[in-house]
Amino acid sequence: MRKTVLILGATSAIARATAAAFAAQGFDLYLAGRDADELSRIAADLAIRYRITANSGLFAAEALDSHGRFFTQAIAEMGEMHGVVLALGYLGDQQAARDFSAGAEVILINFTAAASILSHCASYLEARKQGFIIGISSVAGDRGRQSNYTYGAAKGALSLYLQGLRNRLFASGVRVITVKPGFVDTAMTYGMPGLFLVASPQYIGERIVQALGKSADVIYLPWFWRYIMLIIKSIPETLFKRLKL
Ligand SMILES: NC(=O)c1ccc[n+]([C@@H]2O[C@H](COP(=O)([O-])OP(=O)(O)OC[C@H]3O[C@@H](n4cnc5c(N)ncnc54)[C@H](OP(=O)(O)O)[C@@H]3O)[C@@H](O)[C@H]2O)c1
Repeated sequence: MRKTVLILGATSAIARATAAAFAAQGFDLYLAGRDADELSRIAADLAIRYRITANSGLFAAEALDSHGRFFTQAIAEMGEMHGVVLALGYLGDQQAARDFSAGAEVILINFTAAASILSHCASYLEARKQGFIIGISSVAGDRGRQSNYTYGAAKGALSLYLQGLRNRLFASGVRVITVKPGFVDTAMTYGMPGLFLVASPQYIGERIVQALGKSADVIYLPWFWRYIMLIIKSIPETLFKRLKL
């Protein structure tokens, strides 16, 4: 039987690459986001190139009350849902986030909306006793820095939420994988100063799909970010608070 993967935030560069990597493995796709025209273009392209079924639908991240209906509709269209990739994300502007109304949107998109839609996905997959959830978090969630602590706090909360889901869903045989990319060459980081060791979205997308065939629960992409973050996390707070990061 064919298996469908729901991709949330499917217009993102990382999501497009991940969708193509899933399509290359023969998975059907349901691409969700807020730009209907772009989503149907991506779906049509993948359907032709990989001979899969690819549908798309509008997902209003901010409208938390609509998430249950959205997910039910996606399942109705595809017949089933085997896996979910959460690629939704919003970096925002940390300077602007000093005014909390700007920071609130960063928290809403990266954490609250993510937790809301994943709660529906988790209950469905738990009842089916199979499938997977892949959540794209970030190395930014591993330690708070003055340059992006609102985004980092939301991603850190997402990582903890995914960890809890993994613990809950283990008994039902549902995999939960947390992905923590470093810098990736996408619209989110375009023009940002001081980037280093920047990975391509294609590299990230392929590794995300490969992770399903391996046993790791938390993956850093590229792999060396695990060690970079180990060093960053080991710096004593008394020293860390003095650094310009
Ligand atoms: N790029 C990096 O260096 C990096 C590093 C670590 C983690 N990540 C994470 O990787 C994931 C993919 O990001 P990306 O780099 O591929 O960035 P991207 O191209 O900017 O994609 C962000 C996605 O989130 C959607 N989105 C943003 N704000 C939204 C809102 N208010 N309502 C609904 N959808 C919204 C975007 O939709 P639209 O296309 O409609 O705007 C897009 O699909 C994100 O979770 C990001 O946090 C990225």
